[in-house]
Amino acid sequence: MGFRHLLSIADLGPDDIDEILRVTDSFVEVSERAIPKVPTLRGRTVVSLFFEESTRTRLSFETAAKRLSADTMNFSVSTSSVKKGESLRDTVVTIQAMGVDAIVVRHGSSGVPWQVAQWTPASVVNAGDGWHEHPTQALLDCYTIRQELGRGFDGLHVGIVGDVKHSRVARSDVRALALLGARVTLVGPPTLLPPSLAGWPVDVSHDLDDVVPKLDVCYLLRMQLERQEQALVPSLREYTARYGLTLERVARLPDHALVMHPGPMNRGVEIAPEVASLPRAVVTKQVTNGVAVRMAVLYRLLGSGVAL
Ligand code: CP
Repeated sequence: MGFRHLLSIADLGPDDIDEILRVTDSFVEVSERAIPKVPTLRGRTVVSLFFEESTRTRLSFETAAKRLSADTMNFSVSTSSVKKGESLRDTVVTIQAMGVDAIVVRHGSSGVPWQVAQWTPASVVNAGDGWHEHPTQALLDCYTIRQELGRGFDGLHVGIVGDVKHSRVARSDVRALALLGARVTLVGPPTLLPPSLAGWPVDVSHDLDDVVPKLDVCYLLRMQLERQEQALVPSLREYTARYGLTLERVARLPDHALVMHPGPMNRGVEIAPEVASLPRAVVTKQVTNGVAVRMAVLYRLLGSGVAL
């Protein structure tokens, strides 16, 4: 496998994903050691360039880089010269001039990681661009499903529920799960689904109660109220009544089925607070695995030829 950037799941084939998940196994083992650190990326520098809020992804990449012994640089828009009007391009060129090997970028506009990749010789990782993609979230989701269910993806049925329209997680997850052979059903009201699903390898349902008993994974999306320019559901109460994962609905999932969410969760909207605490809700496991998955991605981008 030889890729220089990770901008989209479309950059990867099934074998690439398999290899990242296999390398992740090694970094899960490293993360469980008393001293969870290896010298693999000593002398390399990874910068986090986040123009949008993040808790999980930013800290996860930073932890991953540190566990690989890379140096890290952290860019914060609110304290940077972006506030004085410095352009994205000048910001990237300035950071590059300090000598960096990888730029992990999150931006509210789709396509920005591709632009950044034009302006730097460093490897660029998309940590979420607009509504478009969030590839490392999809990889950590696939890893968690495989780990928790102990099976492959052929014939696996994943329901992705809620605000698909505004969700970069949904777009990356659909691509990755379909590549691996899973069946994906998008579930939500028509107003929260993309206007055209041409080319999406998915089934669609507007009835969560019908789909729930058929799922191996019920993947809930955050209702992204900050991205909605107009009310797309009559009320949050009505949304929760029809599409929220309540204890009653969980009871109708197959016994083995997982509940997943990329975070941050709107408790009481797309997921009932009691559901988030059930053993089958593997949300914190997703976060834990995120560090090892991002170690695997940084290793594949920067550590070629270096033994684990
Ligand atoms: N899942 C996810 O991307 O979370 P953050 O926005 O906290 O990084």
